Amino acid sequence: MSKKGKQEKFIEIGTLPNVFQSHEVHSPNLIAANGEIKIMKGHWKEYFGNDNPITIELACGKGEYAVGLARMYPERNFIGMDLKGNRLWKGAVEAQRDGLKNVAFIRSQIDFITQYFAPREVSEIWITFADPQLTKARKRLTSPFFLPRYREVLKTGGLVHLKTDSPELYEYTLETVKEEKLSLQFSNDNIYAQEKQMPEWSIKTFYEQMHLSKGLSIKYLRFEI
Ligand SMILES: C[S@@+](CC[C@H](N)C(=O)[O-])C[C@H]1O[C@@H](n2cnc3c(N)ncnc32)[C@H](O)[C@@H]1O
Repeated sequence: MSKKGKQEKFIEIGTLPNVFQSHEVHSPNLIAANGEIKIMKGHWKEYFGNDNPITIELACGKGEYAVGLARMYPERNFIGMDLKGNRLWKGAVEAQRDGLKNVAFIRSQIDFITQYFAPREVSEIWITFADPQLTKARKRLTSPFFLPRYREVLKTGGLVHLKTDSPELYEYTLETVKEEKLSLQFSNDNIYAQEKQMPEWSIKTFYEQMHLSKGLSIKYLRFEI
């Protein structure tokens, strides 16, 4: 992949058919390729051309999970979501190049997730190496601010996966799951030291690779809403 600057990447994502960008707060309108305005809420099955289950990767950055899971599970659909267009450019270009029809991206704030998905349109959520937001609990992607939004878009029994290097975010999420009386399915604070590996853990994001190179342990938990 050629080296491109932020500006070039920004222009290019505006031309990609697998990228939808928000341009106004409090509106479900998304800008699709070449400036077309679309409402995707409740219409993802038309975009994908099937009714396969949808998994969203939140704070997707370069979209390693969205793209990696799309390769791993061709019978499912994946949507990466992040505010930073120059990051999700990488996943979007890679998915286009490799002809992956089951992956798309939304450039917007996760806070407005209910504007882009209808109630129960989503089956699973992955949160990958989100900022722990040590001083602003409300901004943590597993805070009680975000959980009702996830509950609205997820199917009954929908799953939330969290993969993180942050002991604070991991412990905070365990505590929140308990306080909110959600069902914790699995948790481990050093997953690669475990004998039994989940196939999904083989996907390593950009930030994860940085944390691993510093010898940090990676934590994972999964709960049901
Ligand atoms: C530490 S990076 C992790 C990126 C990627 N998942 C990885 O592991 O390489 C956190 C990402 O979360 C995004 N982010 C944080 N809060 C967000 C929000 N409320 N809405 C959209 N994106 C957000 C940032 O733009 C950033 O790309």
